[in-house]
Amino acid sequence: MINCLKPLRMGELKIDIPLIQGGMGVRVSTASLAAAVANCGAAGTIAGVGLADEADCIGRDNFFRSSRQALVSEIHKARELTKGVFGVNIMVALTNYEDLARAAAKEDINFIVSGAGLPLKLPEYTIGTQVKLIPIVSSGRVAELIIKTWKKRYNRIPDALVVEGPLAGGHLGYRFDELETGKAHSLDDILLDVLGVVKDIPGGIPVIAGGGVFDGKDIARILGLGASGVQIGTRFVATDECSVADEFKQAYIDSQEKDTIIIKSPVGLPGRSIKTKFIDGLLKGVKMPFECKFKCLKTCDPQSAPYCIAKAMLNAFKGDIDNAVVFAGSYVSRIKKIVSVKELIDELVSETCSALALKSAIAV
Ligand SMILES: Cc1cc2nc3c(=O)[nH]c(=O)nc-3n(C[C@H](O)[C@H](O)[C@H](O)COP(=O)(O)O)c2cc1C
Repeated sequence: MINCLKPLRMGELKIDIPLIQGGMGVRVSTASLAAAVANCGAAGTIAGVGLADEADCIGRDNFFRSSRQALVSEIHKARELTKGVFGVNIMVALTNYEDLARAAAKEDINFIVSGAGLPLKLPEYTIGTQVKLIPIVSSGRVAELIIKTWKKRYNRIPDALVVEGPLAGGHLGYRFDELETGKAHSLDDILLDVLGVVKDIPGGIPVIAGGGVFDGKDIARILGLGASGVQIGTRFVATDECSVADEFKQAYIDSQEKDTIIIKSPVGLPGRSIKTKFIDGLLKGVKMPFECKFKCLKTCDPQSAPYCIAKAMLNAFKGDIDNAVVFAGSYVSRIKKIVSVKELIDELVSETCSALALKSAIAV
C-alpha cells in the first residue's frame, strides 16, 4: 500500500495514516482491534466503558476496581501486540471517569479521547504524564469553552480535537429533535466552525473529524476542508479483529438503510442504533426493568430509566441481538462484508489517495 497522506501530528507524536479508529464501548473496541489498527500505522482506541466483570462489581468500590483493572489489562494486552500508536476513550458521563482517566494516563498509552460530556477537568487527572488529550466536540462553541477553560485553569490547550457529526454511531452530542428531523448541522459545517475557532491559536490544534465517514472519497473531502485526520468507528466493527460476537457483525451486514434509528439513552444523550426487537419494545413504551448493582453513569437514574444501556450493549457484544442496543453509524447498511483491519485500512488509504490525485488533476 502506498500512503500518500500527510501524517497526523500532535507534538512529537506522529500517526502515519491520519485515521483514528473511534473508541467503541461496550467491549467493541478492545485490545485486539486497537492493536491491529495501530499495526497498520493508524491509531487504535480501546473504549473504557463496560469492561468490568459484572459478577465482580457489587457496589461502587468493586465496580471502580474491576473497571480499572480491566482497562489496564486491555492496555497491557494491546501494548504486547503493537509498538504503534493507541489510546483510550473515556466517557465523561461515567461515574468512574476520573478513576479510569487517572489509571489510563499512568500506562503506556499515547492519548485519551473524551466526550459524552465536557472533559473540563481531564488535564488535572493526567498531570505529569505525556498522554495527549483529545476532547470530542460537536460545535465551535463547545471547542471554545474547553480551550478557554483549560488555558485558564491549567495553562494548556487540547493536543487535538475530535469533531463528531450527527451521522455517527453511538451517543451523539445533539438534541433528539435535531437528529430526528435531520436539522442538525452537517459534519462539514461543524468542522469549518471548529476550524474557525482554532485558527488563531498559536501553534494550532489539529482537528480530526468523524461521523458518517465511510470511504476514501469522504476522507479526501474532510481533509480538503482542513481537517488533520478522520475518526471512523462503524466500519471497524465489521472486521475480523473486532471482538464482538458474529451476530453483532452480521446485524451490520444484514442492515438496510431504513434500519437505523435514533433512541433516547440513559446516558442523557440520543444515540444511533440498528432497530432490534428490544428497541421495538422501547418504542411501544415497554419498560425493561433492571437491577442496578453499581451506578455506572452520572446521568442515569436507575429508578426511572426505562432500561439499562450497559446491559443492552453487553447483550449486543454477546450476540443476543433481540435484547440489545446495537449502536451503528448512519451508513452501516453500506457495509457488505467482514474484512481484516489491514484490508480495510489499505482500501481507505488507496481510495483517499486516488480521490486526492483526481482533485489535484482537475485543479490543474
Ligand atoms: C458500537 C459503537 C460504540 C461506540 N461507543 C463509543 C464510546 O464508548 N465512546 C465514544 O466517545 N464514542 C463511541 N462511539 C462513537 C465512535 O467512537 C466514533 O466516533 C463514531 O463511530 C464515528 O462515526 P461512524 O460510526 O459514522 O464512523 C461508538 C460508536 C459505535 C458504532
